[in-house]
Amino acid sequence: MPAFTARAPGKAILFGEHAVVYGRPAIAVPVTQVYAKVTVIALLAAPEGQILIDAPDIDLQSDLAHLPDTHPLRLLFNTLTKALGIKRIPALRLRISSTIPVAAGLGSGAAVSVASLRALAAFLGRPLDDEQVCDLAFEVEKAYHGNPSGIDNTVITYSRPIYFRRESPFEILNPAQSVTLVIADSGIASPTAAAVAGVRQRWQSDQAHYEALFDRIAEITDSARQTLEHGLPQALGPLMNANHWALQEMDVSSVELDRLIEAALSSGAYGAKLSGAGVGGNVIALAPPERAGEIAAALSQAGAVRTIVTTIQQASH
Ligand code: MEV
Repeated sequence: MPAFTARAPGKAILFGEHAVVYGRPAIAVPVTQVYAKVTVIALLAAPEGQILIDAPDIDLQSDLAHLPDTHPLRLLFNTLTKALGIKRIPALRLRISSTIPVAAGLGSGAAVSVASLRALAAFLGRPLDDEQVCDLAFEVEKAYHGNPSGIDNTVITYSRPIYFRRESPFEILNPAQSVTLVIADSGIASPTAAAVAGVRQRWQSDQAHYEALFDRIAEITDSARQTLEHGLPQALGPLMNANHWALQEMDVSSVELDRLIEAALSSGAYGAKLSGAGVGGNVIALAPPERAGEIAAALSQAGAVRTIVTTIQQASH
């Protein structure tokens, strides 16, 4: 029996993180320089139902049955078999590798889910379309993260720039011009669930202030959409800065992230902000294409453990 392989990219949130959990819009883009890759191989001599997990990047080598019920891979298998109405799975090995840093705001968990769902469904002879993959990956995110907006599994499944609002159909964005971003990983792990729970707590104790911040971010995101689709890329810079100030006010930035942002701005970025859940994780800087290397070097100098230069491609008309 052949092996089945699927890949899914990382992602970056350009505008609107956290506010998107509260029904405001957000913009996200795929980051194809990093990806999760999952291969499913039949274990012909093993007993039916045996599932071996082999994920060297996260030091995981285990029989699925030995993982706790709450492990995302257990949740993923349960979600998939329930959705497909399958009771008996042939023995298999699930080999997972990923170049997406974990808990860094780049969507590593959602990318592993999307790639695993695609590879497993193909292996089981029941390939899924993008909408089904996205819905099932969201189920896994919900079981694992508590209250995700759904933006991560959506941008990663469709691998296109998206404008996303909870409970509404997402829209694919068509950038008027290419946009160069430098992504810098602070190296500080920040699980999304904890950062989202922190915002929830502060929102509960000061709802008026937080709702006003979310509204401000929604306006910034809508201006950014207009700019991305009709304006000059550099005009996104001040909007990124303004989004970052609102995130600072929500207490999801940190000394380390602010230091990276300052380094990007003083080396020629048009704008910069934290991206994703914050607290740790990554920042993104909007770069004039010819200065991307210089900005990446300044970010490394300021403490980034890794930088990625990525381009949001102009839409082809
Ligand atoms: C995480 O990539 C983005 C957050 O807004 C959480 C979510 O939307 O589920 C922080």
